[in-house]
Amino acid sequence: MDQKIENIAEAIYSEGFCVHENFLDEEAVNALLKIFNEKRNSLKEAGIGKQENFSKVKDIRGDKILWLEKNGNELLDKYFFGPLEELMTTLNRRCFLGLNDHEFHFACYEAGTFYRRHKDVFSNDDARKISVVLYLNKSWKAGDGGELMIYEKEEVKTEPKAGTLVVFESHIEHEVLTSNTERISITGWIKRKKDLF
Ligand code: OGA
Ligand code: NI
Repeated sequence: MDQKIENIAEAIYSEGFCVHENFLDEEAVNALLKIFNEKRNSLKEAGIGKQENFSKVKDIRGDKILWLEKNGNELLDKYFFGPLEELMTTLNRRCFLGLNDHEFHFACYEAGTFYRRHKDVFSNDDARKISVVLYLNKSWKAGDGGELMIYEKEEVKTEPKAGTLVVFESHIEHEVLTSNTERISITGWIKRKKDLF
């Protein structure tokens, strides 16, 4: 795990984004999917920055989400929040980002949904520094859609296959192409909360 995380921090430092296939193995993916399936009835329609009317939100993003808590589930902490906090520490050491907080949710895109091109930073709140997405789609195949597009110097297209982790600076524009099948991920942000004094 240590070396994988060093490699991701190095890529963030030099490129601003990183796509790491097989970041988690099948055992970890299965454990996280089990947690997702136990909670799937609690998913709620996602919003956008300022809450607009619902039909307008649907034209922009169609995923349903469920916010996650650290210390809420042992296997979630072991397989997700543990490595995530190791990544946060490593990014601080390697990239001097001053990261000190994070927020993550399960996200589920049903067939026919997407998230149009956007940035993850809000105009009135720049706490989000690093976006992280871990995909949990074990049977993803070409044609299933739902690829992540990252618009940097060149366009990078990533298949949302189980175990793939994508990390990028939150000011980078990106998009979720229309998914033709259910598409599950853990998605969220590593943040720098403002000084409290
Ligand atoms: C987001 C987002 C990307 C993905 O939730 O802001 O861009 O691949 N997600 O799910
Ligand atoms: Ni996004």
